[in-house]
Amino acid sequence: MSKMYTTFAEQYDSAVQDNIYNAHLERPSLQAIIGDVNALDIIDLGCGTGVYAEYLISKGAGKLTCIDYSQDMVNMVQRKFGERITAYAQDASIGLVKEESESADLIISPLMIHYLDDLSTLFTDMARVLKKGGSFAFSTHHPFADFECSLSGNYFERELITEMWDTVGEPIEVQFFRRSLTELVQALTNSGLVVTAISEGKVSEKVKEMSEERYEYLSKKPNFIFIKCQKLG
Ligand SMILES: C[S@@+](CC[C@H](N)C(=O)[O-])C[C@H]1O[C@@H](n2cnc3c(N)ncnc32)[C@H](O)[C@@H]1O
Repeated sequence: MSKMYTTFAEQYDSAVQDNIYNAHLERPSLQAIIGDVNALDIIDLGCGTGVYAEYLISKGAGKLTCIDYSQDMVNMVQRKFGERITAYAQDASIGLVKEESESADLIISPLMIHYLDDLSTLFTDMARVLKKGGSFAFSTHHPFADFECSLSGNYFERELITEMWDTVGEPIEVQFFRRSLTELVQALTNSGLVVTAISEGKVSEKVKEMSEERYEYLSKKPNFIFIKCQKLG
């Protein structure tokens, strides 16, 4: 687990409130495909510092469960939202083992799944935990964008990438898995979920004022991919 999400959890929280990549590209793009959440029972997987929990609560979510591998992140969402949510620390790679079958209307997982090597255990368990007609909506790095970091040069081979990110104002090492779009979509469809929406995101106009150069870049190159799927009734 990168120190970005443990030692630097507080700094990460400050950084993502109003930055270009999270606040003005990722969040509006995923929120656009999540849709209406009013009164839904929701799991926020890889909840981080609770920026999505805050959004979901403001939109009238029903029962909200926040899960993250990092105990620092879990402590933070507990501090912020208290008894309004249930929160606990767990590695998502083993699935949603503490959650009851057919108990969630919606599972979201913003920017988390690229930290998992194998996706099939999690996706299969998500299909178990979703109610019939329930949805799973997530974002992850766009496979084209990540291919630029490939050392193998083989797009179709899953690859562990190590990078230094400046998100919190100093370089922190982060490791994540790069995989093909084929592998990602097959992991979903093999679990029985049906893909209902795919988006490659849209950078907010506000970014023009923050950095003309970044706005130009993100308007022309995909950085994240956003997928919504459903458990059919
Ligand atoms: C990029 S942050 C995104 C946080 C939040 N979803 C957001 O959009 O602000 C990724 C989060 O995934 C969590 N994470 C990483 N690996 C995980 C795993 N194996 N199981 C559960 N959470 C994990 C990290 O601790 C971190 O909080």
